[in-house]
Amino acid sequence: MTASQDERARLLESLGGAGAGEARVAIVLGSGLGPLADEVVGAKSLPYEELTGMPASAVPGHAGRLVLGELSGVPVVLQQGRCHLYEGRTAEEASRCVSCLAELGVGVVLLTNAAGGLHSEWPVPSLMRITDHINMQGVTPLTASERGYGSPYDLELGSLIDAAAADVAVELQTGVYAALPGPTYETHAEVRMHGRFGADAVGMSTAQEALAAHAAGAKVAGISCITNYAAGLSDVEPNHEEVVEAGLEASARFALLIKAALSRLDKV
Ligand code: HPA
Repeated sequence: MTASQDERARLLESLGGAGAGEARVAIVLGSGLGPLADEVVGAKSLPYEELTGMPASAVPGHAGRLVLGELSGVPVVLQQGRCHLYEGRTAEEASRCVSCLAELGVGVVLLTNAAGGLHSEWPVPSLMRITDHINMQGVTPLTASERGYGSPYDLELGSLIDAAAADVAVELQTGVYAALPGPTYETHAEVRMHGRFGADAVGMSTAQEALAAHAAGAKVAGISCITNYAAGLSDVEPNHEEVVEAGLEASARFALLIKAALSRLDKV
């Protein structure tokens, strides 16, 4: 067994022991979207230090804990804080937690992130459901032995989220997320290129998790919080403080949308 397989096996065991596999839905919270964790009913917090094999993040704005409990009556596990490839993490580490949760039987994985928007007509902050991604990170967590063909984003789950947005009158864009290695924001020329390639938003996470969770058998959906105009679309260069602040500004709307989606899921 390689070191990473061993670490993964330990995380699987710790998560299973903590009851995380009983959740129906796992939600990974991106920068500034952490406040959803405060709404969890019967919340049980699991700091990453208590979970063997859990790779933590050192990025400000990313707490390091899982929160188990219920949202809209649905058993959930929230991952508050993720690690990124640009922190020197591997694709396997960046996706380990959701992959283990999916393997434990958590059937739905909802990935959220902060992203730069490529549409100057979209207000900031706004919310975008990820219809697909372009993996520009140069790595994948998949190995030949795993399934994971096609796009990892589930169409039915996507429609359910669109319907939930309409239920609660939350404006929701849809679009393609380009996942980049980071840690720097893009150059203006890169943003123009990604736009021509078909991206609607740019960010530094999510793709590895989507691929791994899908391959492990979960239904995957993604929501980006468009926290800023991508580099070159406005006079201000993107910066992390602005990203976290805009995420917090959108967090009430985001929570409303997630809870409405979970209510719909509860009826399926
Ligand atoms: N680019 C990449 N990642 C991001 C951005 C951006 O503009 N905003 C938030 N995360």
